[in-house]
Parts: sequence; C-alpha cells; structure tokens
Amino acid sequence: MLSGSAVGGLVVAACVPGTGVVESSSSLATSSTVPVADGPVDVEIAMRAISDRVEIRPGIETDVWRLVAEVTAGDAAAVQPVDGSYLGPTLRLRQGQRVRIVFDNEIPDETIVHWHGLDVPEDMDGHPRFAVPEGGRYEYEFTVVNRAGTYWYHPHPHGRTGPQVYAGMAGLLLVGDEEEDALSLPGGEFEIPMVLQDRTFDGDRLVYLPNGMMDQMMGFLGDEILVNGRPDAAFPVASRSYRLRILNGSNARIYKLGWDDGTPLVVLATDGGLLESPATRPYVTLGPAERVDLWVDFEAESIGTTRRLVSLPFEAPQMMGGMMGPDSLIPNGAAFDVASFAVDRDAASTDPLPGRLSNPGFSSVEAAVNPDAARTIVLAMARGSWTLNGRTFQMTEVSPEETVRFGTTEVWEFFNAGGGMGGMGGGMGGGGMQEGLAHPMHMHGQQFQVLERSIDDAGRAAWETVREGYVDEGWKDTVLVMPGERVRILRRFTGFPGLFLYHCHILEHEDMGMMRNFRIATA
Ligand code: C2O
Ligand code: CU
Ligand code: CU
Repeated sequence: MLSGSAVGGLVVAACVPGTGVVESSSSLATSSTVPVADGPVDVEIAMRAISDRVEIRPGIETDVWRLVAEVTAGDAAAVQPVDGSYLGPTLRLRQGQRVRIVFDNEIPDETIVHWHGLDVPEDMDGHPRFAVPEGGRYEYEFTVVNRAGTYWYHPHPHGRTGPQVYAGMAGLLLVGDEEEDALSLPGGEFEIPMVLQDRTFDGDRLVYLPNGMMDQMMGFLGDEILVNGRPDAAFPVASRSYRLRILNGSNARIYKLGWDDGTPLVVLATDGGLLESPATRPYVTLGPAERVDLWVDFEAESIGTTRRLVSLPFEAPQMMGGMMGPDSLIPNGAAFDVASFAVDRDAASTDPLPGRLSNPGFSSVEAAVNPDAARTIVLAMARGSWTLNGRTFQMTEVSPEETVRFGTTEVWEFFNAGGGMGGMGGGMGGGGMQEGLAHPMHMHGQQFQVLERSIDDAGRAAWETVREGYVDEGWKDTVLVMPGERVRILRRFTGFPGLFLYHCHILEHEDMGMMRNFRIATA
C-alpha cells in the first residue's frame, strides 16, 4: 500500500517523478514469461515508459513519466503523437489487425501496460503479475477483436497504478471497423479526442499526495482540470458537426458533463463503441475510466460564438458527513469548466447525424446461466480498506465465487453498500451510516451490458443528481455504482480463458486492493 512519508507529523509529497522522493515499491518477483513473438503482424510498435519534462503550463516544464511509441513495421498511421502533451500517442488500430507491441520500461519503478477495454489473452492484458522492473521488457502480441470504439491504455502494476497514471502514463486507443466506416461520422479535424484529467502543481512538479488513509479512502483529486494534458482547453471549431471522443482519465474525479447553454448532449458511443442509435441526455455522468462519444453541431451558430463544455454540480457521495475528504480546490460535485469551443470559421460541408449507428449484437438475459440469481459483488469498507465481497487483491488468488465457466454468459450484480457498514466488519463511518463513495467498477476482457439499476432510500437523494446522465444502452467495461445502488450486468465469458481482473477504477482504491482476479475456467 502506498503512503506518504510522515515527517514530524507532516505528510510530504511522494512518488512524483524527478523529486527523488519516489518511495520504494515492493519488488515483486517478476515471474513474467516473456512471450516469444514472431511471424508477420499488421503493425509493430515500440513503446517505452520514460521520465521526461513537458511544458504543461506556459513556460514551466513539469517532471512526468510518460509512454512514448513509434511504429517499427507496418501501418504507419497506427501511432499519432499528441503534440505538446505528456499523454502517450493515440494508437489507431483496426478490428482484425494483428498487433505486436514491444514495451521497454525505462522508469525507476516496476510497471506493465494494460489495454483498457480490449479483449486479449490473459498474458497480453497487462495483469500486475507481469510487471517488469526498470530495464525490463514485455512483448505483447494480439489480434484486435473489439468493435470500433474509444479505448485506452495505462499502467497496471499493483499498488502503483495511481501514481503512474497521475505522473502522465496513459493514452487513447481508438479502434475502427467497417461498420463505423460506413457511417461517415465527423472525422479528421472534425473528430476531437478529449482526455479529461485533474492535476495539482507545485512549481515544476506534479503533486500527488497520498495522505495515507485519507486520500486512499477518498481518491485523489487535483486542483486543475486538464484536457489532453493541457490547462484551459479551448478548441477553435467550424460551423458544422463534430465528434468528441471523451475519456475520463482522472484517478478519482467524476464528471457530470453538460453544455453551458443547456443544450442536451447527443451520445454516439460508450466504452465499447457505437450505440444502436443516438441517445439524448440532459447531461452525461462519467466516472473514472468511462468513455463517451458525443455528437455536437455548431452549424446553427454564428462565427464568434463560444460554447462551453462544463461539469455540472451534483451531490457527491461523502464520508463521515463530509468531515473526511480531499482538500482539492475543486471538490467532487463542484461545478467547473472543462473546455470551450469557439466557432471561428464557416464549414464547406457537414456530416448529418445518422438515425441508426450500429448493430451492437447484444445478448438477452435468457442466455445467462443464472438469469434470476446474479453473482453479487458487495463494494464496502472492511478492516480499513475498500473491499470486494470483503476481500482485497492478492496477486494470483481467486475464490470459487470468482470462477466462471468459459463459454457461458452470466448476470453479475455490483452492490455498493456504502462506507459505514458497521455490519460489514468495522467500517470507518461506524454505526451503519448510509454513506460512502461512488465506485466505477471495471471488468477486464469482454464488454458487458447494463441490465438494470436500483437504489436504496438512503442513497436516493445523491443518486437523483447523477442518474439521468447514465448511458446504459451501449457496451460498457466500466460502470459507476453510487452508494446504495445495485447495478446488474450481463457479461459473456466467451473470449479468452484465464485469470483476469475486476476492480474499482478509482486508482487509489485499486491500489489499496479494491481489485480481485476472476478466472475464466475451461474445466
Ligand atoms: Cu483501466 Cu484494470 O484497468
Ligand atoms: Cu481494463
Ligand atoms: Cu472505489
């Protein structure tokens, strides 16, 4: 578990690269069987994790860790750098492509890269048991089986994911396919990828204050909002339609996205790609790791008009009556600006909004082996940690209740029991208080469907301030579960057998062990 260094009662910043205050990580035995990669592939990429300095704020170079990459063979368009950003390049892959990625770790910490949302064999998934030390290499090779969508990649070493993502290690991974090609959605300069993150700065350093229990419990919130690694995001646009491809790449922050003028949001896609048809929402609630593609039309706007994408206020779940919380300048649930879009030119043409987008190929609940008896995962505090069914992560441990049969489809239910839960084994709130935090629950491997949600009475007031922003009609790999909420999902286990992860994607929760393995067993 990650913790700050206490000096005379003060907690000092730890694990910010370049400061020399990087705390040692337990050197886990790296039992990584490096797969032998040979044979032809469609694209070969050399990726490195490096220490670097990037001008994030004007005139100030900040120490970061980042992922850099280049194409070494095949499709040269597969790697697109994000200029002036610490973000890793945007990887543009196609469904059906065979991809080889040779990853070299050049940071003074162990790490491994995970392809979030992609369905790949277990030894290609970036499980923490495959983390490599500084100087280590890991070779990935897999076929892109996913449909077109907005995916991403980030490190996944146990206990170190939060600080490494925060230090800059993450990038978008956009998959295309023929179904999407046939649509003529806004592309090229009319497609704007947006990675939303929050960071706190101190001079030329990023400040990540794992205040022991406190920030681990609450999740770390930064003081400034960055889009694609830049503050004060402003996009000049033409008077036409655009596709915004938005990733919440924050460690712990929830966004309630809306337009400042109250225009409803038009949603094209979720985590696992295009919806069947566009969906309209007054706002979109986006937990950490969730993605949403929005369609926005500036055609009716005159040149000189500016529209702002904002995060609207909501009732943030809290701990101990709000007495316990991170001291960000922007608390969870506060209103803030995300980005502005200034119409500065006419457009020669535009792309109309298609009435139908895709055939998602959903399953029906009857396909499940347990349609009426969901496999339930309780999210709760126990013995001073966030837990899944009372358990925390052990590198290769998996319980019988976490073992599913390859080839089946199951109903799972995530139940957020809140933070008090005296009955769950000594929660912090004590006294069975109905409070807690929202947990964005992520499953590795295939995408899932959200079947239904319900909320208990104690959680209802906060839930009412975010629930209209859920987009549950698309494929998901991460789903926000508010305190008191039950979310039932339908998940296929028909991809690859093996040991995979499910966890809360608040990275401080993941790092403290709110993560478990599940096994897809063939026998
Ligand atoms: Cu985005 Cu297990 O991770
Ligand atoms: Cu993932
Ligand atoms: Cu959590």
